[in-house]
Amino acid sequence: MKKTFLILGTVLALALVFGTSCRRDKTQTALEYMPNMYRGPAFEAYTSNPNFEDGLSARKPVNGTIARGYIPYDYSNSQQGYDSALAYLKTPWDLRSFTSEEKELLMQDAKELYTIFCSHCHGEKGDGNGILVEREKILGVPSYSSEKLPNITEGSIYHVIMYGKNIMGSHASQLSHDERWKIVQYVLQLRNDPSPNPVTASVEEQTNPEV
Ligand code: HEC
Repeated sequence: MKKTFLILGTVLALALVFGTSCRRDKTQTALEYMPNMYRGPAFEAYTSNPNFEDGLSARKPVNGTIARGYIPYDYSNSQQGYDSALAYLKTPWDLRSFTSEEKELLMQDAKELYTIFCSHCHGEKGDGNGILVEREKILGVPSYSSEKLPNITEGSIYHVIMYGKNIMGSHASQLSHDERWKIVQYVLQLRNDPSPNPVTASVEEQTNPEV
């Protein structure tokens, strides 16, 4: 009796293994014993979904949501936006609270970023003689000097990095918020502009105890 069960069991097991695993259509999965182990009951992000009016599984963030770390920029891409940024937009950090090492690191970063993103047009010294200007690939790049651009401010420089100006394109997508502000500090240094939180002046203050 025991033997008959053993033989029957073996035959059944073999039939199951061979009968289900050797399907001819190789593009289809064979019989799955526990499908939920492979396919969760949850909707995949990019599949259609009958539970929502728009039929999408991936939901949009609630209106007004701001991604973590993203800093909105409220000035519009218009002359009015430019004028407002020029007058009111200020560097978000107080550089006077930085140690001299911190300032040095910031300016190193700023120089590197400027060299990568701006110097091919504006020149290493900010005189408007970048390599593209020398090779006459682009014209009309101004020097940052106070004689050529007397009215620009930290706010307007940031605004121009965000939106570009005429042939200069926007650099908003290539640079983070902090990187843009670092570049602004470097442009101010090239202009020798006394920024409200002057990087160089503060370094001097620290080296000269009498001040
Ligand atoms: C493709 C060449 C090019 C690149 C790259 C470029 N600029 Fe410019 N930039 C220009 C030109 C051309 C102008 C003059 C625009 C005008 O007034 O018509 C200009 C103007 C400016 C001005 C003066 C704007 C004003 O308010 O009059 C600033 C400041 C400036 N650029 C900063 C930058 C910074 C910072 C970078 C790097 C993040 C940069 N530019 C990258 C071509 C460039």
